[in-house]
Amino acid sequence: MFVELLKRRRSIRSFSDAPVSEDEIDTLVKAALLSPTSRNIRPWEFIVITDRHTLARLGRAKHGAEFLAGARVAIAVVADTRTSDVWVEDCAIAASNILLAAADIGLGACWAQIRNRTHPGGGTAEDYLREVLELPGHLAVAAVIGAGRPAESRQSLTDDDLDRAKVRYIG
Ligand SMILES: Cc1cc2nc3c(=O)[nH]c(=O)nc-3n(C[C@H](O)[C@H](O)[C@H](O)COP(=O)(O)O)c2cc1C
Repeated sequence: MFVELLKRRRSIRSFSDAPVSEDEIDTLVKAALLSPTSRNIRPWEFIVITDRHTLARLGRAKHGAEFLAGARVAIAVVADTRTSDVWVEDCAIAASNILLAAADIGLGACWAQIRNRTHPGGGTAEDYLREVLELPGHLAVAAVIGAGRPAESRQSLTDDDLDRAKVRYIG
């Protein structure tokens, strides 16, 4: 059941050395590409990184992205900001779908926020990644999702974790 998957999905930042198969990576890519976008513009693009050296460089993008260095695969969610005024939302949905697809097939995954974040060495995390990933200037970097076989276990959420105060019903 979909709600059970939502409960099971937790951020995993510690990964084992076990490989992630090409089929598993393709499942994550499909989840991204099947995401809805405003006016069906699909402003996003996805950069799939498995190279260990590049993953290590991703981990230096900002404080809180270090886990990417230990991931077996990372997917950078980038967008052509010229084509849509709601590319941020479109990217967020795609990133969320990647996380859910990873949880569905037993991979651990976590989101590293890049947009609006600074690079420890000065400048933005986005500019740093634009250089690492050799991206042209019109592509904005929203986030990077790191994934791999979990080397930590996290408790699933339960109905007790639901903050019902966040919901108001009319009618
Ligand atoms: C928009 C967004 C940005 C996030 N950025 C980071 C990040 O930069 N680094 C990180 O370790 N986790 C990041 N996370 C993961 C959150 O910390 C995590 O989802 C939250 O603490 C809830 O925990 P859970 O995912 O295990 O349920 C981000 C999550 C979202 C949705």
